[in-house]
Amino acid sequence: MNDRFLRACRRQPVDRTPLWIMRQAGRYLPEYRALRERHGFSTLYREPELATQVTLQPIDRFDLDAAILFSDILVPAEAMGFRVEFNPGPVLDAPVRTAADVDRLGHVDVEASVPFVFEAIRLLRRQLEGRVPLIGFGAAPFTLAVYLVEGGGSRRFDRIKPLLFGEPETAHRLLARVTEVTTSYLTAQIRAGAQAVQLFDSWSGILGRVEYREFALPYARKVLEHLVGLGVPRIYFALDAAHLLPEIANCGADVIGVDWRLPLDEAFDRLGRRHVLQGNLDPCVLLAPPDRIREHAGQVLRAARGLPGHVFNLGHGVFPNTPIESIETLIDAVHSPRH
Ligand code: CP3
Repeated sequence: MNDRFLRACRRQPVDRTPLWIMRQAGRYLPEYRALRERHGFSTLYREPELATQVTLQPIDRFDLDAAILFSDILVPAEAMGFRVEFNPGPVLDAPVRTAADVDRLGHVDVEASVPFVFEAIRLLRRQLEGRVPLIGFGAAPFTLAVYLVEGGGSRRFDRIKPLLFGEPETAHRLLARVTEVTTSYLTAQIRAGAQAVQLFDSWSGILGRVEYREFALPYARKVLEHLVGLGVPRIYFALDAAHLLPEIANCGADVIGVDWRLPLDEAFDRLGRRHVLQGNLDPCVLLAPPDRIREHAGQVLRAARGLPGHVFNLGHGVFPNTPIESIETLIDAVHSPRH
């Protein structure tokens, strides 16, 4: 098996830097767009055969070092009984707005409510036949709570933030429930065959350091600590969170994903010089000509030289308008860096 990705996560030597790409299965691929013409996004992740097919599309086309399950971070909201539509961003039918809404959240049996996730993982492990490891994922509790309270994406976060500042006990009760669901969701993914997991904390960057320490970090750490005994690498990725890196250092993950806002060596310093890092090419670089892509990929690799381990990735998801040739150039640049 190509185990470069797992080895880098575990601080073991690798013959070359492993690479995967956030949102590597998706609209920039013509074969994804072709399937998407026939099926809605939610059908693609709810049908295990289709989710498997989409997950494998980038693996069949490119020399990548890991596959990531095709799904969405909002699936656990479905497990909690919310109706979620994608339009194209997620929209929830009945957001959580009051203490009574939190009280109404019942017990969640993730394996019974979203069985398609675990079935897709089992199918994928069989079809991958060890070609590359399979990454499972979920939202960090704070990020999922943002969606449950805002009812979708937001610019001002003027529903979640008033809850944190005005009714912190209610916020903590919601976060505790979301943490339980996320923990059982990721545990079930690992039991089904996920060989690493990534916790996406896409919205914690909206918080100041004090609020991050109260409302985001303890819950992410609780999820990550629960998974330690299962023996798979655990990645934590927060977007736009350079100001939070000294706190993130204590989240308990094996690997910290970082976006493009700081060079990797500087992020490493702010994290206390001990973590394996994942990242961090600006996805917009892939819209530039090949020479520029090689140059910027080289910069990322050079900044990673002193790390105990490095998984190459973008600093956030690949854009739908990324040319296929740019991905090919990037993979070649990471495989055969010019020194
Ligand atoms: O990385 C992968 O290849 C796995 C698939 C994956 C998707 N979403 C598929 C998807 C992953 C890991 C996610 C995570 C996700 N989903 C995040 C965390 C990462 C991040 O971006 O910070 C977030 C915030 C979401 C919520 C979400 N889902 C949004 C905001 C959107 C709309 C924006 C967009 O890209 O269209 C989605 C829809 C979504 N999730 C699509 C895909 C491929 C687009 C669906 C389509 O129209 O085909």
